Amino acid sequence: MGTAVTQEIVNQAEAASVGAGQSFDVERVRRDFPILHQDVHGKPLVYLDNAATSQKPLAVIDAERDFYLHDCANIHRGVHELSERATHKYEEVRRKIQRLLNAREVHEIVFLRGTTEALNLVANTFGRKILKPGDEVLITAMEHHSNIVPWQILRDERGIVLKVAPINDAGELIWEEYESLLGPHTRLVSVAHVSNVLGTINPLKRIVQAAHAKDIPVLVDGAQAAPHMPIDVQELDCDFYTFSSHKIFGPTGVGALYGKTRWLETLPPYQGGGDMIRSVSFEKTVYNALPYKFEAGTPNIGATIGLGAAIDYVAALGYEKMAGHEHDLLVYGTERLSEITGLRIIGTAREKASVISFVVEGIHPHDIGTILDHEGVAIRTGHHCAEPLMHRFNVPATARASLAFYNTRKEIDRLVAAVQRAKELLG
Ligand code: ALA
Repeated sequence: MGTAVTQEIVNQAEAASVGAGQSFDVERVRRDFPILHQDVHGKPLVYLDNAATSQKPLAVIDAERDFYLHDCANIHRGVHELSERATHKYEEVRRKIQRLLNAREVHEIVFLRGTTEALNLVANTFGRKILKPGDEVLITAMEHHSNIVPWQILRDERGIVLKVAPINDAGELIWEEYESLLGPHTRLVSVAHVSNVLGTINPLKRIVQAAHAKDIPVLVDGAQAAPHMPIDVQELDCDFYTFSSHKIFGPTGVGALYGKTRWLETLPPYQGGGDMIRSVSFEKTVYNALPYKFEAGTPNIGATIGLGAAIDYVAALGYEKMAGHEHDLLVYGTERLSEITGLRIIGTAREKASVISFVVEGIHPHDIGTILDHEGVAIRTGHHCAEPLMHRFNVPATARASLAFYNTRKEIDRLVAAVQRAKELLG
């Protein structure tokens, strides 16, 4: 990592964390997460794999448990008391997500299994209704496989063209290249808000404005953004935005897609089944109103109610405080890791969320991961479901430490010590 870039990140973070860090009681927050208080291979756990999945506070675990203890029934179907309670709790979460994203209408929030399913829903329905052979979908070089493969399926089946906006060596979108790829055949831009490998925060508002200037809608993969920063879909003016519960301290198996009303009305259903219909005969089916048109089958009701508790938890803590603390950790981690000879950080964007990918000269990332695990430090290694990005940086894989607001500077010290240990053993 260039010294100038490191210094710039440090300066920004120092400015951002003044004040915010002071009132953030990380030890108190950690008490809400029972899983963090355990030993792994005889050492206290240091959990730094939050970009893969974050841990859940007791409030989330309790909310899901309460549903199964007291209210378990199917939703939208029964007239009985339990079903009414379950339906009420479930629909309340939709309103919480509406507030979380500042969506104009509650029917603009569709429940799905997560970000991957949401991206596939848009690819499938937009693909069937709008895209014709030769039409272009523009993504970036830092996308997760779930924002690459659905478009490749459309390319192979419908003859669309997939265009990729390149990034610079810091892992930032090259603006001029992005703008020049918005051409007369571009029908959709689909972009990550935050890169799961590099931590880059993309200039989303500018991306949307440039696309809209040419009447091109924008779909946003917000999986790595929602756990770290407030999202305002009206302010961003994006056409679709999606995130996953399990990365924002909620249970696995649920997530949401926001879509502007006019798009959700225009697009055809994704899957057929119960709940997405108003009436069915063998001759004809009339689809349900929004958002139910996109919600076939019994959903993950318990996890959705847990997600509601996660949203409440994050709201009570406050994004500003969380972000201040995380930024302090990002700066500290970047500084400390940069001191290790032979270690190179992959992803040095000026605007960065708390993800630090790195490689160490002469040691395969998988070996680093294994040694760190034996030191009680959990990170992810591999291509992080972003293989083209590995090719871009000419590495087979990276080691990735991804932070959450419950991590501490002491844990960063443990990470650094464990990487030093890996160097001693294998370097
Ligand atoms: N997409 C998740 C990650 O980056 C699983 O680890």
